[in-house]
Formats: sequence, C-alpha cells, structure tokens
Amino acid sequence: MSKVQRLIETFVPENYKLFLDIDRPSKTFKGQVTITGEAVKEQVSLHQHELEILSVKAGDKSLDFTMDDEHEAVHVALGVTGDVVLTLDFAGKITDNMTGIYPSYYTVDGVKKEVIATQFESHFAREAFPCVDEPEAKATFDFSVKFDQSENEIALSNMPEIKSDERKETGVWTFDTTPRMSSYLLAFGLGDLQSKLAKTKGGTEVGIFATKAHPASSLDFALDIAVRVIDFYEDYFKVKYPIPLSYQLALPDFSSGAMENWGLITYREIYLLVDENSSVSSRQQVALVIAHELAHQWFGNLVTMQWWDDLWLNESFANMMEYVAIDAIEPTWNIMEDFQTTGCPHALKRDATDGVQSVHVEVNHPDEINTLFDPAIVYAKGSRLMHMLRRWLGDDAFAAGLKIYFEKHQYGNTVGRDLWDALSQTSGKDVASFMDSWLEQPGYPVVRAKVTDNALNLSQEQFFIGEHEAKGRLWEVPLNSNWSGLPDTLSTAETAVEDFKALADSNTGAFRLNTENTAHYITDYRGELLEALLAELPALDPTTVHQVLQERRLLAEAGHISTADLVSLIAGLTSEKSYMVAAGISYISASLDRFVDEGSAVEKAYKNFLINIFAADYARLGFEKVAGEPDEDEMIRQIVLGELLYADQEDAVAKASALYEAHKDNLASLPASLRSLVLVNQMKNAETDALVDQYLDAYVATNDNNFRRDLASALARANSEKTVNRILESFKDKDIIKPQDLSMWYAFFLRRPFTQERVWAWARENWDWVKSALGGDMSFDKFVIYPANSFKTAERLAEFKAFFEPQLSDMAISRNISMGIKEIAARVALIETEKDAVHQAIEAQNE
Ligand code: BES
Ligand code: ZN
Repeated sequence: MSKVQRLIETFVPENYKLFLDIDRPSKTFKGQVTITGEAVKEQVSLHQHELEILSVKAGDKSLDFTMDDEHEAVHVALGVTGDVVLTLDFAGKITDNMTGIYPSYYTVDGVKKEVIATQFESHFAREAFPCVDEPEAKATFDFSVKFDQSENEIALSNMPEIKSDERKETGVWTFDTTPRMSSYLLAFGLGDLQSKLAKTKGGTEVGIFATKAHPASSLDFALDIAVRVIDFYEDYFKVKYPIPLSYQLALPDFSSGAMENWGLITYREIYLLVDENSSVSSRQQVALVIAHELAHQWFGNLVTMQWWDDLWLNESFANMMEYVAIDAIEPTWNIMEDFQTTGCPHALKRDATDGVQSVHVEVNHPDEINTLFDPAIVYAKGSRLMHMLRRWLGDDAFAAGLKIYFEKHQYGNTVGRDLWDALSQTSGKDVASFMDSWLEQPGYPVVRAKVTDNALNLSQEQFFIGEHEAKGRLWEVPLNSNWSGLPDTLSTAETAVEDFKALADSNTGAFRLNTENTAHYITDYRGELLEALLAELPALDPTTVHQVLQERRLLAEAGHISTADLVSLIAGLTSEKSYMVAAGISYISASLDRFVDEGSAVEKAYKNFLINIFAADYARLGFEKVAGEPDEDEMIRQIVLGELLYADQEDAVAKASALYEAHKDNLASLPASLRSLVLVNQMKNAETDALVDQYLDAYVATNDNNFRRDLASALARANSEKTVNRILESFKDKDIIKPQDLSMWYAFFLRRPFTQERVWAWARENWDWVKSALGGDMSFDKFVIYPANSFKTAERLAEFKAFFEPQLSDMAISRNISMGIKEIAARVALIETEKDAVHQAIEAQNE
C-alpha cells in the first residue's frame, strides 16, 4: 500500500491570495492563486485534482512543472529553498459529485435554479485550487470571487466582505483575510439566497441562509439556536468565538449532513430548516447538528488535528459537545436521552463485530480517509468515550482543561496526547493511560457480575456478536456502581470483592454497574444479581430501564442469553411508559421482528403481544396530538403508533385512514409527527396507482425535506410490482430523486422482503452507476452497510458474498464487506438456533 505523501514536507504555505472566476453556464472556472510560503525542498509539490495548471511563476519567473495525477499533485521545479511567492494560473470544471466546487439544484415557482458552493473536507480543496491540502498546512486566505451574477444574487465566504464599493464596478467579491486555518475549512457559496440575521451577546453576527424555495419562517428556529449555542460555548470554553461572523447556509444538494467551514457552515436542508409544521424529533435533530458544527468552530477549526488519524479529536469531541450544549440551553428536552436511544445502540452494535476499526486509526492511503468518518465509531463510540471521560474527570476539571488546551494550541495543530496533557493538568489524573485502552483498541468489554461463595465476582472480556477471534483485550473500566465499597475501575480480567452480604447490607437497591450508561461497556448480571435487578425494573428510572433492555438485547444478539428471554422481559412492561422505556421496547421488537415472517403462523400472536404491551399508552395518548402536551408525549406516541399500525390494531388503523381522508387534498398539512405513519398506513392498506401518483407528485413538488422523507418511506411500503418498478426507474433520474437521497431510498426498500428482493437486484445490476454517481461520496459505503444491516437469510448471505467478495480490494468498502459478512452470518445463525424458542415464547404470551 503506498503511503500518503505529505506535501508540507516540501512546502509550508503562509498565505493564499486566491481569485476564482466562475461561469455557471459552462460549469467551468478559472483561477489564480498567489501562495506565500517557505520552500523546504528545491522541488516543491502542491495538491491538485483534475485541475488544468496553465502557468507557475515565482515572481516574474516562469517555472517548469509536472502534473502527477496519481498522487493528485503538481511538482514545481523551484531550484532554491527558503521564502518564496508562487503564482499559479489554473482552470477547472464544476461537476455534480458534491465535492470541491459543485452546484446544488432546486426549483422555485417552476423555475430551475442553482446555488454554487463548496465541500472541501476531507481533501477536496485541491479540486478548486492548487494548495497544500493537509490539515497541518495552516495558512491565512484572502479570497475573492467573480461569477455570472444576476441581480439579487450574493456571495458568501468564511469572512465578511470588504471593498464592496469596488465590487459594484468590477463584479468581484472580496473577503477579509481569514485566521490561520486548514485548507479543508475554506468555503464559499453563491446564488439567490434569503437570510435572517441576529447578533450574539459577544457581538458575532449570526446568519441563516437558504434558497428562496423555502418559507422565510423556516429559518427562525435555526437562528435562535445558533445564537444561544455560540453564547453557551463562549461561556463554557472561556474562549471567544474567533471570527466576526457565523453564517449557516442550507444547500439543496449535500453529501454528508453538515460541514463546519469556519464562519460559513453548510448544511443539508433537512438539518437546518424547520417548517412551521415540524415534529419534536426533527427540531431536536436540527439543534444538535447546529451545536455540533458550532463546537467545531473551536474544536477542529481553532485547534486542528495534525493528521486524519486523529479525526476523533474533531468528530468525537463535537459529537459529545452537541449534547452538552443543547442540554444546557434546552434542559427540558432531556436531550441526553436522545444519545442513549441513537448513538449508544449504534456504537454498541457495530463495535461488537470483529474487524471493526478503533477510534484512533492509521491512514495510509487517501482513499481510506473517507472511511474514517464511520458514524458508529468516530462519532457515536468516540463521543461515548468523551462522555465517559467527562464523567470520570468531573465537568469542572474537564472544562478547565479545555480552556488550557485552546489557549495553548489555538491556530495550531495537535495530537491526542496534547488534549490528555491539558486534562491531566486540571484533574490530576492520568488521562492518557485511562483513555488509551479505549481509543487504541477496537471493541468493548462485557463485564460479568455474579456472586459465588459470598464474593462479588467481576470479570471483563471483549463482547462480540458473530464469528470472531478473541485477542484477550482488556480495558480500564470505570465501574460507576450505584453501590459504594467497590473499586473505581476494573483493569484486570477479573476481581473479587469479598463478603458480598456485608456489601449488600450497607447498600440499598439492586446492584448495578455503569450508572447513567455513560461508560462504553455492557454488564451481564448473573443469578441472584439479575433476579434482583429484574424484580426492581419497573421502579427504576427510565434511562436505567432503557439501559437494561439494551444490554439484554445485545446479550441475546450475541447468543449469551436466549432471545426468547427478551419476550418475557418486555411482556411485563404494559403500564404507561416514558419515552426511554418505549424506545427500549421498540429496539427489542425490531430484534424480534426478524423472527416473525410476514404472513407466518406466529405473526398474529406476535401482533397481539405488541398491542397488549402498548394498550395503556394508546389509551392515554390517543392517536392525535393534544394541544399543549409535553414534547415527550409526541415522541412516545410516534413509537406506540408505529407498533400498533404494524400490528394492525383496528382503532389505530381506522384513525390513520380517517386522518388521510381529512388531509388528502393537502398531504403536507398532515401533522408532521404523524405524517409518516398516516402515509405508510394508507399505502399498506389502500395502495392504488392514483395514490402512488399522488405521493410521487408531492415528492417532486415539495421543498420540505422532512415531508419528502415521509413520502419516500411510504412509497417503499408498496406491494405491487408496478409501483416498485416505477420507483426503481426513478432512482437514476436526478429530477425526481436527488443523488444525496438515494441511500435513504435504498434503506427504506431494504426493510421488507418484497421490496428488498427488487432493490437488491437493482443495486447489483446498476453497481457501476451507483459507484460513479456516489463513488467519491460519503454515502457510497451505505450501499454495503445497509444490506448487511437487514439481510437475514442464508440465501441473501450467499448473494452478498458472491457480489462483494470480489470487491474486497476496494479500500473504500473493504472493511464494510468483511464486517457485513460476519454480521449477516451471525443473524442467520441466531434465527436458525433461536427461532423455535422465540415462537414458543410469543405463543405462550397469548395463552
Ligand atoms: N466534518 C463533518 C462533515 C464531513 C463528514 C466532512 C465527512 C467530510 C466527510 C461534520 O462536522 C459532521 O460531522 N457532519 C455530520 C453531521 C453531524 C451533525 C453528526 C455528518 O455529515 O454526518
Ligand atoms: Zn463533525
């Protein structure tokens, strides 16, 4: 494997003076960049990708250069070392792949329009201009841009505009010098945009920008959150927001979720804009995404990882801070519950498959850089580790350590050790040795707790789901017990606490570990410990119940306990539930669903079982939203109705149909929190060509991305060959389905056997197209991950292997292929061994 060459070893840039001239009709640009810096070698190299380099000069002197497309570079024969000013003229193309400089397409009042914007992370600045495109090569940027501008159109970049008077004559937009920063953070956007502006307490101008295809009111929510989150971070980090403005720009086409460009954060529209008709969970999501990107303005932008192997310094950290920030500004949302029900299970699942990467991971090839952004690992697991650390240190020492870290390293680059040093300084604890076992090793432990001979035995071993090779890994596990009298951490394979009786007498309640579920492990309670815990379960707080359900589910998926035990575990939870408990049950029912085939004999009993579990909740909450109800009720209702409609509960089905009838002339007006449920129910029970037409037309016409998602989910519930074929044909039609949304459709179609069979055939037949449309994109690997998440038969496993094994050499998907095979194989084997027991347990609940 060829190692990535570091171009900063040949040239250290100090300042870029960059001018771009953009021509939308021909989808091309011309540019000139003048780079001041220091040549370390007599031959210096700059990154470029698919640029045409027209000339290279040092002062007036033309220099020879050679293009090296394999290494995405241009080599310049300078002949001397030391301070130098290089000027390059170049040209490039604007392509649709959502990296570098790219167009976003949208329609307003029937007119097709475009916004041009950038996506430079991780290594796509080189598609826009020659530069040392490495995080360590920090420099200042003086950016200016000209484009085929019409009236009303504007240009935005990281810094405020300067020389606007000159622009009126020349048409050139010039922006103030940026702070010293990495090339991946430079950004601009241009087009016919609307905006709303406000100021933070510290005087930073905050703006929300979007195309005019959206109602102005959809910008309000984000503006309020952004202002308050910046205020919060300034207070928490004790470091001022470093630049004069903070703009948030929603783009109609976007590869990932959002991007933290310094001062000009870009977003997928669904993660910034909030329609007046919106659900609680969609608003929470928007707030979290804004808080995430704003956390990067310090963590990532002000202080940046030296190289991509320490990407976790950016992403794990921002993924933790988003929750800390939203919890602080909206305490009634209980947003930590969201992390417990999304990030935690995601991390615990993927990190249990052998072959998973560690949070800190070597990068040897540019193609590997994209695979670092694994949502389950560098995001979910990484942030779980940060939460664990924050608890271990205490929030005061944690925040104080961050301040030291920022002050010491601002405008510079760091490695993990620099953060540990700062946190050790304020906490007096050895942070590096605590965190190393968690960051450097893949996987996590299951801690087994049991009582033998009046001793409490605690042991740890790596937790695996599926085939694996045990490596004897150990972790420094914070026990965080509800009982006192235990050691702080478990770092050996096992330990015993003598005289369990005395220990039990001096404590109250059932023995528990990992309280609040902040540390990254699960517990397998045995014997009397398990009995005591389960007896207490209904009386425990919602987060703990959720945690117990989650841990039992994982133990069942790994085959440590029988899946049939999950049936009796949730059967007792029939009284009215909190969101956390309802969500925990719905994860278990998703796990049990795999054992219940559509139309099978056990299906009826299973449906009755679910109806029974959620009957009290339905009685309390009803079908429709109640004015003034707590946010939590809306979220519980969504779960309850989802289960009841799946189970064909008559009253719920009738109410869903009635709601469809009442809103059928304007589907967008269905209450957002119920819309998906109602649309799916209608498709499930009353699919007609006219209904499909109605949904597809609405899908194309709407600019509300949440509505679009609901429609896609409903269309994927189709039962007719005709409908499915019709939709599959639209997969390649960008005017109907945007490439950014293709993986979402794919996931929806994989959910049921009928659509799964067809979409899986489609993906294999059209693989080359998928690869070319999304190959450089963040969502490409989802075309491997999603089938692995849903396949459950030996036949699909064989097909998966046959299709993907020959592609194992493709670094972008290699790990996901081998992990995917293990994941499916484990599921197939589990169903095989447990099916009879699970069916019996379900039938027994109906007797
Ligand atoms: N820095 C990332 C965006 C990114 C991801 C750039 C992958 C290049 C490659 C950004 O801060 C981010 O993490 N975005 C998330 C959304 C976030 C709220 C979890 C994303 O895009 O999924
Ligand atoms: Zn991020």
